[in-house]
Amino acid sequence: MATSLPVKVPLVTEPMGILASLRVARENILAIIPEIATRQPMVTGRTGKRWHMVMDPGAIRRILLEELDNYPKSVVTKNLLRPAVGESLFIAEGAHWRWQRRAAAPVFSHRNVMNLAPVMTAAAERSAARIAAAGPAAVDVAEDMVRTTFDVISEVTFSGSDAFDADGVHRAIDHYISAAGKISLFDILGFPDWVPRPARIASGPVMRDMKAVADAAVEERRKRGHAGVPDLLDLLLAGEDPETKRQMNTAELRDNLLTFIVAGHETTALTLAWSLYLCAFDQGVQDKARAQAQSMLRGRAATGEDVANLPFIRQIADEALRLYPPAGMISRTAQKADTLCGRDIRPGDTCIIPIYALHRNHLLWDDPDAFDPERFADRKAVDRYAYLPFGDGPRICIGASFALQETVIILATLLSRFRFTPVKGRDPKPVMILTLRPEGGVWLNAEQLSGTTPSAKTASQAV
Ligand code: HEM
Repeated sequence: MATSLPVKVPLVTEPMGILASLRVARENILAIIPEIATRQPMVTGRTGKRWHMVMDPGAIRRILLEELDNYPKSVVTKNLLRPAVGESLFIAEGAHWRWQRRAAAPVFSHRNVMNLAPVMTAAAERSAARIAAAGPAAVDVAEDMVRTTFDVISEVTFSGSDAFDADGVHRAIDHYISAAGKISLFDILGFPDWVPRPARIASGPVMRDMKAVADAAVEERRKRGHAGVPDLLDLLLAGEDPETKRQMNTAELRDNLLTFIVAGHETTALTLAWSLYLCAFDQGVQDKARAQAQSMLRGRAATGEDVANLPFIRQIADEALRLYPPAGMISRTAQKADTLCGRDIRPGDTCIIPIYALHRNHLLWDDPDAFDPERFADRKAVDRYAYLPFGDGPRICIGASFALQETVIILATLLSRFRFTPVKGRDPKPVMILTLRPEGGVWLNAEQLSGTTPSAKTASQAV
């Protein structure tokens, strides 16, 4: 294990006035998490609204599982995302959420996710070819991973559609997330309504165009039917609520597909970028991972079948998701009075689960800021509610196995072909807007290893 520590977010150690904290938080939401959140089970405060940061696994289980109906997603999450993705799976509550979840669940079954693995393998090949072409200069792997995971998600949602302008949708979503993310904190802390809301941004022409383009792609596919292996759109088109037999109409399909893109692509790219950063940070871990990947792959790219045989690569992804959880905090609004960790919760209180601080809490983890993939060698030894990169309970991330399969395929392929080393003086800076991003990118030297030059066929496919 490396003796130094990988980069971390400086958490607040002194009480800050509301304005100072808002100023800091505008730049980095994680910076409003007090340092004591990594040492206590619960921290309560008031800035406009009463809020609680909950790090106690039992209390978190109560919020996410046992008392689900008492703790719906907070108004902030909904205000933020509704303009982009409507009343889709991510946002809906109660019966409207339940039927959509039932209709979408089979889309992400093990078999369906496995069927989509070739798309991930092809994207891994293209990424390897791009990194090889860019070398020996330093490469921003964060940028390349965003491109790679967008390739995957657009291919498995709107593939083959003439109507679908993938780059245009990518630009619209990025624009929205960065604009929305900057002001989300005002909602968390209960600022008045005059603060501009994402709705105003979302009603602009970029979003309108994006939705129209996505609608056209859905309609086109509905008429044409699917050819070959069904992708996420085909599966969702065929999906129905097993209880009511209800199926999604075009707007519901579009909102859910855009949800998959918004929720699934940047988060997976971040997991990959942080994993690569950590491997560059700890060469011992990287060598061990490479040995496993090379012995399995022998020069080819990883496939869906390989994933189960690459346990150490998966452990690196698990540890990256612990140290840099892409969803650094999730929040809920209490509906009824309750008690958590012996403390009164009142209706309307915001309960924040600061996943970043939970994953670095000294009561739950040994040497929490250290990078050590061996923590996940025996998964049963990890307290389920101390580790929540995908949330938990009925609203757990529906795409978790999709994301993990994609991460292992791409990470194993890249580690088997390149040695990544840090670029001096260019450590990434973790900043949380809507997701936990490395500000300025993740710049690494990527040395191509001999005998791993992609074949002429793959290289030409990759351009
Ligand atoms: C490493 C990548 C990912 C991470 C870290 C992640 C994280 C999360 C988290 C923490 C939640 C729960 C939010 C809450 O309870 O407030 C969630 C929900 C969700 N995620 Fe993911 N996600 C990832 C990838 C994906 C992918 C690939 C997809 C789809 C293709 C996806 C689709 C969704 C959806 C639809 C929900 C809402 C589920 C519901 O409320 O029923 N996510 N995700």
